[in-house]
Amino acid sequence: MTPAVQPGHAAYGPGRPHRRAEDRWLERWLETCSDLARLQYSHPMVDAVIDEIDGRMIRIGERWLADFASCNYLGLDLDRSVIEAVPAYLDRWGTHPSWSRLLGSPVLYEQLESELTELVGAEDALALPTITLIHMTVIPVLAGSGTIFLDSRAHKTMFDGCSVARGHGATVLRFRHADPGDLERLLRAETEPPRVICMDGVNSMTGNAPDLAAFAQLAREHDALLYVDDAHGFGVIGERSPQELCDYGMRGNSIVRHQGESYENIVLVAGLSKAYSSLLAFVACPTQLKQILKTAAPPYLYSGPSPVASLATALEGLRVNAERGDELRARMHRMAWRVLDGLAEFGIVTPNTTGYPIIEVPLHDPDDIDEVGRYLFDHGIYATMAAYPLVPKNEVGFRLQVTASNTDEQVTHLLLTLHGLAERFRMRPGAAQASLARHTG
Ligand SMILES: Cc1ncc(COP(=O)(O)O)c(C=O)c1O
Repeated sequence: MTPAVQPGHAAYGPGRPHRRAEDRWLERWLETCSDLARLQYSHPMVDAVIDEIDGRMIRIGERWLADFASCNYLGLDLDRSVIEAVPAYLDRWGTHPSWSRLLGSPVLYEQLESELTELVGAEDALALPTITLIHMTVIPVLAGSGTIFLDSRAHKTMFDGCSVARGHGATVLRFRHADPGDLERLLRAETEPPRVICMDGVNSMTGNAPDLAAFAQLAREHDALLYVDDAHGFGVIGERSPQELCDYGMRGNSIVRHQGESYENIVLVAGLSKAYSSLLAFVACPTQLKQILKTAAPPYLYSGPSPVASLATALEGLRVNAERGDELRARMHRMAWRVLDGLAEFGIVTPNTTGYPIIEVPLHDPDDIDEVGRYLFDHGIYATMAAYPLVPKNEVGFRLQVTASNTDEQVTHLLLTLHGLAERFRMRPGAAQASLARHTG
């Protein structure tokens, strides 16, 4: 693999040249980021350059690896019918609209927003390029100079959105992760309205989901708005039905529908850059709020739009989802459970209690992370490394994601590698019973 900065590169390390006085700002800045810089070149799976892909196999330098770091849950990035549909959209619309949405939205957006609205069952939806942009701009609008109640393990982009809101005059209070009791304690105290509760749906590390009903009830009781980021649930979990092929539910229409909740006092944010392999995201909300956000939240007016290819893959992805999404989810479900059962058998702990396809493996000793990463890489497994300082020391480990386009052979190979890993490294104890119990229960 080719690290972005080679060991011995002038950026750090013993070979670093003496800097001129006018470059000292750079020196100081490099010192501040030295943990991250070391990480960048000590882990073959951090900041890697991918030379080639073949299905869910990727080539880095000379090595082919099975990719368990992809978030393309439905495998639409590789779907021939989606790929082949894109040129016709490019012929009609060119590669990029370039107008900000307020200046001119290709009619494709109308179609997307109405399909997304119907799918998630909300009153309306506003599409913007990314969830990050949505958090940074919509949370400050919703919170104004009121109070934000922020889940302490919310995604970094949500934290950042809340920081922007703080800069605009909001107060930010944090409650214990997924703990409605702790949130209630904060809600009972005197706080400035409007009140916004910010939390993730399916958690991007643990693969678990909060008890939305409990949080929604608190929001309604305390005249607050529940703002939920379901980047990882959208496309994966959906409404429950006697016809469902697996307990992810049907249609992949996200956590609110999966848990049988209504949208009263709930704003759902989800993205298409994971399950739908497209640079697009949306806020599901009442039409009146959508109209306000068009002018009050900057991206609709000030940011560039998603490229046409992404609008095309989003629309075609929604078509595939309607045609055979549930089969893709059933396939993902089956392979995710193969991995979870294997971990349980090898005594490797994971916090995943849902069976959703995000499987975190925390290490017993965070100092093993370099060797574990190297072991996985050398055995042809590509995973997301959660190394310090990206995560706190007690959460250091790696994350595996299973997509519909991984193969059973790749899962078998992963299991053999994990078995070897468990023999070689000390893993956290206590996984086996927990995992097997949840499978049989
Ligand atoms: C929970 C969560 N929210 C937001 C994001 C960022 O999404 P986007 O790429 O659409 O900005 C991610 C991406 O990893 C995520 O996991």
